[in-house]
Amino acid sequence: MNYARFLTAVSAARKPSPIRMLTEIQQRSPPSMISLAAGAPNPNTFPFHSCSIQVKNGDMITFDETMMKRALQYSASSGIPELLTWMKALQKNLHNPPTANYSAEKGKMDMCVTTGSQEGLCKVFEMLVNPGDNVLLDAPTYSGTLAALQPLGCNLINVPSDQHGMIPGGLKEVLSRWDPADVHKPHSTVPRVLYTIPNGGNPTGASMTTQRKRDVYELARQYDLLIIEDDPYYFLQFDKPWAPTFLSMDVDGRIIRTDSFSKILSSGLRIGFVTGPKPLVDRVVLHIQASTMHTSTFTQVNEPLLLTPSPPSKLVIEFYRTQRDAMLSSADKCLKGLYVAEWHAPAAGMFLWIKVKGVADTQKLIMEKAMEKEVLLVPGGVFMINSSDPCPYVRAAFSLSTPEQIDEAFKRLSALIKESL
Ligand SMILES: Cc1ncc(COP(=O)(O)O)c(C=O)c1O
Repeated sequence: MNYARFLTAVSAARKPSPIRMLTEIQQRSPPSMISLAAGAPNPNTFPFHSCSIQVKNGDMITFDETMMKRALQYSASSGIPELLTWMKALQKNLHNPPTANYSAEKGKMDMCVTTGSQEGLCKVFEMLVNPGDNVLLDAPTYSGTLAALQPLGCNLINVPSDQHGMIPGGLKEVLSRWDPADVHKPHSTVPRVLYTIPNGGNPTGASMTTQRKRDVYELARQYDLLIIEDDPYYFLQFDKPWAPTFLSMDVDGRIIRTDSFSKILSSGLRIGFVTGPKPLVDRVVLHIQASTMHTSTFTQVNEPLLLTPSPPSKLVIEFYRTQRDAMLSSADKCLKGLYVAEWHAPAAGMFLWIKVKGVADTQKLIMEKAMEKEVLLVPGGVFMINSSDPCPYVRAAFSLSTPEQIDEAFKRLSALIKESL
């Protein structure tokens, strides 16, 4: 693939930081190397000596003085080598990407660590999206994506979707506005980027089937699109077998995947990772060099220790499944009887997307009336491309509240819906 054609002028202009490169050389060097190069502070002056973290299973993670000095020091922009090696092995094990053994120019699978998947997404968008570009996505979608994309001045084109995510026939229809023969012509307006959340979509809870992914991938080949697979709920899929990912189908090197440990390890530690063709991951790393420099070294040195032996904890999945079931049964009890709301049971993630039938726009219902009754939900409009369009949906998260609280919240919501009919 010709990756240069996907880059924005800003991204193409990024150059490696000589100082950052020296930091990486120094970190790979034997102790015999004398470096007068780095502008790194001397960690002997830092006030911390060592630290221990007690894990819930009783294990202790202890950083001695040497490890602590490392954890508190600058590190490579792509991520510390142990974490990267560990993540690459994980990614190959989970997805077996066809690109794993390609040459770099052909789009060999590469990875970098990011400060949550949000940083990865934001930098990927900045790398690929110019003002005026046509970008494809299935709205309603994650508001953080809209927040990152909309200021870039692109034209967001909605691809139809349902409870199984993006509809390939709908994508085909949208793409039929263009001729695949025009894709590589100068000043072509054919979209170059497609974004989707394949599992437990935020806010819809939708999960894509294998066949849909295959069909969307085929269309992406036809129109030479890059697909951004934003999959933070991958590890929160309730039923086996898990559908294969876009990354696992990527024979061309056209998938950029963002993963997150926010939902299974900690959202506050801020760890995510970008996986994709090396020429594009390199560009993301150049952006990291110039912005955050790297994700917290302290967080990174913790990560492989905390995630050993296996990341997708069955207990976490079971917790969310039970929560989902509790929310579904409260919804059945409180909202269904009214014949005013409908929803689909999500197969992954932490959200129930509820259509309030008698209400054209939920903004006032949620932001004024529900708040007065002390129940917080998100009005659906915030997930739409045009947030001021009327939207009859609300998003309810089943991640934090107890089944009793969920039940009470839906009782209050149902009373409000009845009042407004
Ligand atoms: C679809 C989606 N993508 C990305 C993110 C960002 O997650 P994080 O930056 O914590 O990895 C979220 C967070 O809720 C999300 O729902």
